[in-house]
Amino acid sequence: MSSRSSKHPGTTIGFIGAGTVGTALAVRLSGSGYRVVAAASRSKSSADRLAATVPGCTSHDTKQAVADAADLVFITTPDDAIAQVAAELVWHPGQSVIHCRGADSLGSLEPARQAGAQTGGFHPLQTFASVTHAIENLPGSTFGIEAEDELFDLLEQMASALECSSVKLRAKDKVLYHAAAVLACNYLVTLVKMATDLWEGFDVSTPEATRSLMPLLRGTLNNIENVGLPDCLTGPVARGDLGTIRKHLAALELSAPALLPAYREIGLQTVPIALAKGKIDDARAEEMKQLLHATGRATEGATGPELDPIIKILCPDSTSPAEAGTYELSLAGGHTKGKQ
Ligand SMILES: NC(=O)c1ccc[n+]([C@@H]2O[C@H](COP(=O)([O-])OP(=O)(O)OC[C@H]3O[C@@H](n4cnc5c(N)ncnc54)[C@H](OP(=O)(O)O)[C@@H]3O)[C@@H](O)[C@H]2O)c1
Repeated sequence: MSSRSSKHPGTTIGFIGAGTVGTALAVRLSGSGYRVVAAASRSKSSADRLAATVPGCTSHDTKQAVADAADLVFITTPDDAIAQVAAELVWHPGQSVIHCRGADSLGSLEPARQAGAQTGGFHPLQTFASVTHAIENLPGSTFGIEAEDELFDLLEQMASALECSSVKLRAKDKVLYHAAAVLACNYLVTLVKMATDLWEGFDVSTPEATRSLMPLLRGTLNNIENVGLPDCLTGPVARGDLGTIRKHLAALELSAPALLPAYREIGLQTVPIALAKGKIDDARAEEMKQLLHATGRATEGATGPELDPIIKILCPDSTSPAEAGTYELSLAGGHTKGKQ
């Protein structure tokens, strides 16, 4: 929709920082009827590219020109540049200055606030790998909004116009809110990397392992969304299968000991979910916690038939895991050294 047919005629919007989020927000806001009128960036070519995709938007040589032209200015630079940009420009009362950073409150926009502008945070709770992905993935996302009064209302309406939901955040919520996003998004990537590293141990490449794991990942996300916590939890912890967990611990200790602390810790965090699901009782939960907490050799007590041939190959002179000497392995993407 062009600025001529704008549904939001009162507010002119500008962007400083024409990268992934800035460009995607500019394109989507313009498409939702907002008047995106000005853009500047570190390089003129980035600002030109943003302006070329947004009807009615002018690319400027200076950031100050954007601050002068727009009622509401998004500073969508990398996080570390926000405070510097806010400090070097002249702001005026009645203006709004917004950043899209997740972990930060509004301190970096303090110079704008002192000049009489309202300041706010408008964080898209989404992962954007490129401008194209960002434009596609934005609808349906959630925005974490930190702002007061009228500006909060305006940003909430903006999220709604972008077909997104929103959550109101206080300054003190921001860091934990962002830590939660890191757990749910970035560390999921880490978990998949850990899983594909284990597949390399049985000669399946990372791309092939990733492809094979994708249906499982999609199924899990589907269960989280449609069944919900805690009932979406499946697997040995949900069932209270101590024997299976013991085998996992023993095999990881032999083949990928670097992954053991994470397996143990995430397992411990999983036990209360299993309890809440109601498939295990307190006594079984306690047993699982003790097993996952244990700091001794995970192979102790693990007499599973699958493990014995591995131990025999690695420690041919041993009669039991407890008798095995020092061994070295290079598995799961990293060289590891184990000693009983
Ligand atoms: N990407 C995500 O998944 C995501 C998700 C949620 C929130 N965010 C937040 O969104 C904000 C922007 O992140 P992004 O991913 O869009 O970063 P980005 O793709 O790296 O874009 C940043 C843009 O800012 C420009 N820039 C850098 N320094 C500047 C300066 N001093 N003055 C003016 N422009 C400058 C860059 O320069 P050029 O002109 O050289 O291109 C680039 O176009 C950050 O606060 C980030 O935390 C990102």
